[in-house]
Amino acid sequence: MNFRQFAFGLTFSFGIAWLAVVIVPFFKMRNPSPVSFQEGVDENAGIYHPKRTGRLANGYEVYAENGCYQCHTQVVRNTDAGNDLGRPDWGGLKLDADTGKDTRRESNVFDYSGLDFAPIGVTRLGPDLMNVGRRVPARIRAKADPDASAGEIDGQARDWFYRHLYNPRLSPELRDWSSCPSFSFLFEEREITGERSSEALDVDAGPGMEIVAGEKARALVSYLMSLKHDDPVPASMDFSPADQSGGDSEG
Ligand code: HEC
Repeated sequence: MNFRQFAFGLTFSFGIAWLAVVIVPFFKMRNPSPVSFQEGVDENAGIYHPKRTGRLANGYEVYAENGCYQCHTQVVRNTDAGNDLGRPDWGGLKLDADTGKDTRRESNVFDYSGLDFAPIGVTRLGPDLMNVGRRVPARIRAKADPDASAGEIDGQARDWFYRHLYNPRLSPELRDWSSCPSFSFLFEEREITGERSSEALDVDAGPGMEIVAGEKARALVSYLMSLKHDDPVPASMDFSPADQSGGDSEG
């Protein structure tokens, strides 16, 4: 092999990979054309657009600047690339208590529309957070009084997130095994003036002191609570287990 062949071979093999992995997906995902719900096939109508709620923008920035993406992904992979739909409540809820339905689905390109960067994450040291705003309230509901209102459950879920961010090893379940870092610097420790604030965290801060969430912690918790990517997608994009005849992919 002479040098020319070697240089050509090298360029060719790296070039093909670069085209297939970078260039083609970039042009395919840059400006995806809208997908519509089909009449008679889907329950919904019109053009598919994922739902968004809450103070997303600020919380997304706090998420980014604290490097949560270093350990947490936000992508429920296609089933041909991994069994994310089979992981408990990653893609949605296997049994949504409100609708009685299986809401699990894969992530799609529209889940990230409008974001500067898709927070798909670097590693998966911690669980995927694509549906953490669905999963944590559902976990609380499973243990709560059956008469508890949706508002009460949401409030308890927020408290859980605050305690988790303040110190993941402090949660009432005594999760001393957790390796999620503490983000206690997003909270303020202050002296109790008069009565203890109703917003104070349910943690022992020492005599006469209380701990309240700072602005960034509030934005981050709103963002985490908003992470619900399990709204129905058009049948043409739906590969969820609920949609497949026979076979359950729990595992
Ligand atoms: C060093 C890696 C690491 C970093 C950085 C990290 N986490 Fe975690 N996180 C974990 C691990 C491991 C778990 C699983 C243990 C647990 O549940 O506490 C976890 C669990 C969680 C959970 C609970 C998920 C569930 O389904 O119960 C939430 C919520 C969470 N992290 C949020 C965050 C946020 C928000 C940030 C950034 C401010 C962050 N994490 C940064 C490793 C990390």
